[in-house]
Order: sequence, then C-alpha cells, then structure tokens
Amino acid sequence: MPAPSVSIAKGGGTHGAGPRHVAIIMDGNGRWAKKRLLPRAMGHRKGVEAVRKLVRSLRGTGIDALTLYAFSSENWKRTEEEIADLTTLMKHFIRSDLGEMIENGVKLRIIGDHSAFDPEAVALIDDALARTAHNTGTVLTVALNYGAQQEIARAAAAAAQAGVVTVDTISAHLDTADLPPLDLLIRTSGEIRLSNFLLWQAAYAELYFTDVLWPDFTPEHFQEAVASFGARERRYGGR
Ligand code: IPE
Ligand code: IPE
Ligand code: MG
Repeated sequence: MPAPSVSIAKGGGTHGAGPRHVAIIMDGNGRWAKKRLLPRAMGHRKGVEAVRKLVRSLRGTGIDALTLYAFSSENWKRTEEEIADLTTLMKHFIRSDLGEMIENGVKLRIIGDHSAFDPEAVALIDDALARTAHNTGTVLTVALNYGAQQEIARAAAAAAQAGVVTVDTISAHLDTADLPPLDLLIRTSGEIRLSNFLLWQAAYAELYFTDVLWPDFTPEHFQEAVASFGARERRYGGR
C-alpha cells in the first residue's frame, strides 16, 4: 500500500530549534481578582498588562507568531457588565498600544468573528488590522469571539463548496491558514482543557499547563514554557 501523503506540517522544535508559533489560553483573571477581593474587571485589566509585557518581550526572539485567546464564542454567556468591561479594555488597549506595535513591526491578526462586538470596537480593530497589515515582525493573532468547532465547520463547508474535502483543503480554509504550524499551546490558571481553542491546529502541538494565573504570567514564565518545549522530542507519529 502506498504511504498516504503527510498533511501534518512540521513546525519548530525539530533538531533543538525553539517554537515558531505559540498560542496561549490566557485564563485566571477572575480568580486573580477574587483572591484580592477586587472586581473581576481589575483582573482583566491586569491581564492586559501581562499581554503588553509579553508582546514587548518577543522582539528579537525566534517566535514568529503568538496567538492569544482573548474571548471565546462561549464567553457571551458572561454578564453584560463583564462583556462591556472586556470590550472597553480592548478598545483602550488598541488606542494606547497600537502606535508601539506599529513601531515594533507587530502584525496584528484576528481569528473568530470580531464583527459581533460593538461598532466602535469593530472600527478600531479594523483600523489596527489595516495599519499593521504590512508589518513584517511578530504576528500577533488575537482570538475574538472564536470557537474552534465553529471554525472547523466553516472551513469544511468552504472546502466542500470548492469541491474537495481533505485535511489539506480544510486546513487551507481555517482562520489560521497563513500562520506557521502551532508548536506550543500554553494554558494558565491550572485548568487542563482546551475550551474550544485551536482544536485542529493542536493536533501535534506540545501542550503546557501552568497554575500561574494570567495576570501573574510574566515573560520569564513564558520563557520557562519555551525551555520546556525545547526539551521535548516531537515525533509526529514516527520514531
Ligand atoms: C480569562 O479569565 C479571560 C477571559 C475568559 C475573557 P477568566 O475571566 O476566565 O478568569 P477565571 O477563569 O474566572 O479566573
Ligand atoms: C477560555 O477561558 C477562554 C479565554 C481564555 C478567552 P474560559 O474561562 O472561558 O474557559 P472555561 O469556561 O474555564 O472552559
Ligand atoms: Mg476562566
């Protein structure tokens, strides 16, 4: 029997190289705030600071792509107040940090359907996407109103529409089609689940779980995860 064509693209980490594409489920903002008897919004605010520091720290590293889970398609179940707080923070972050991101060559991308947020947020996001589109530094992908099952269903439907449904044609229609293969997936806050994030892309990613709550997660913690990745042997089903 002929060998089937291999569709799993090999990412970083082979022959000791570091990860090229890292994704993070940034969890634990609420518990961080609760521990301090603060409103949940404060945890989200601190969470944004952790994002800012991490993105800054990536300059000059071998990480080409960072993908952050900021709002899931299931997070609409939160209270209106919390959703409004998160939207306000998002808008604030774009206003305060876009200039620095442009200067640092960061290319912003969105996965998921951000059109569901309020019109002001949508306009700010679209403007940020346009103004960073030609940057050639780190690709910062933010998952907003993102659900992996929905993404896979959409990609499969698009592949079917084009007449060929295979692993490769589905991959080519995913929101992440133009990103390098996912190497390392980190989740903070001690939860050991994927919560509908990058389910397809995680097929051969290395997984890293830490108890650190997202607002406490520093660039040093990130480097620990990267170091742990470097010590692993990726086999992709081979020997
Ligand atoms: C992650 O923190 C941020 C979002 C999901 C938007 P949480 O808000 O889920 O924090 P916990 O899990 O309640 O601690
Ligand atoms: C996943 O965290 C979504 C984000 C981090 C944006 P959740 O806190 O929503 O996930 P569950 O509810 O614990 O699975
Ligand atoms: Mg959570």
